[in-house]
Amino acid sequence: MAQGVRGNDCERRRNHMNTFRDIKPENFTENTFRLINKDWMLITAEKGGRVNTMTASWGGFGILWNKNVAFIFVRKSRFTKEFIDGSSTFSLSVLDHQKYAKVLSYLGTVSGRDEDKTAKSGLTVVHSDGTPYFDEASAVVICKKLCRQPILPENFVSPDIDGSYYADKDYHDMYVGEIAQLLVRG
Ligand SMILES: Cc1cc2nc3c(=O)[nH]c(=O)nc-3n(C[C@H](O)[C@H](O)[C@H](O)COP(=O)(O)O)c2cc1C
Repeated sequence: MAQGVRGNDCERRRNHMNTFRDIKPENFTENTFRLINKDWMLITAEKGGRVNTMTASWGGFGILWNKNVAFIFVRKSRFTKEFIDGSSTFSLSVLDHQKYAKVLSYLGTVSGRDEDKTAKSGLTVVHSDGTPYFDEASAVVICKKLCRQPILPENFVSPDIDGSYYADKDYHDMYVGEIAQLLVRG
């Protein structure tokens, strides 16, 4: 369990940590449509010393309020939501989809309420300025929360969205995060 690692284990783990380079978002050359929809990402946040993560494939990157931002959509039922709400930051980790397909599916079907899935995933939690992310990632976006906006059914313009995606009324909150760091393997 990454968080519980102490002393020699911690040193050993540190020796195997990957090196990341902090790049400007405008120099990021990956196709973000493919990245989010096909590779998926892990939304991760920490609250009270505990880390939780979940797989996500909805979201985007862009410009808002003259800042580079990421926006993500998290349903009210997600345990990860409590961690995002309890923290001023969150991270998005993109992992090689083929290599980590099983782990990504596991983290996207099991809830951290039911088991310590971060530990069970076998992934290595590391931090940047106190924000957790995964050392196995090929790209990491560290976000500073700017805004939480509930998605409300009365605001849908297209009539099919509510019935198609919210039959159980488990609505998303949209979070807009300022991209504080974009880390790529270097
Ligand atoms: C491919 C994939 C994409 C997903 N995308 C989202 C998403 O964008 N937003 C969301 O709220 N849940 C999404 N989920 C569902 C959560 O990852 C899932 O419910 C997870 O178990 C929540 O874990 P938690 O309760 O520990 O937060 C996705 C699941 C998968 C498998």
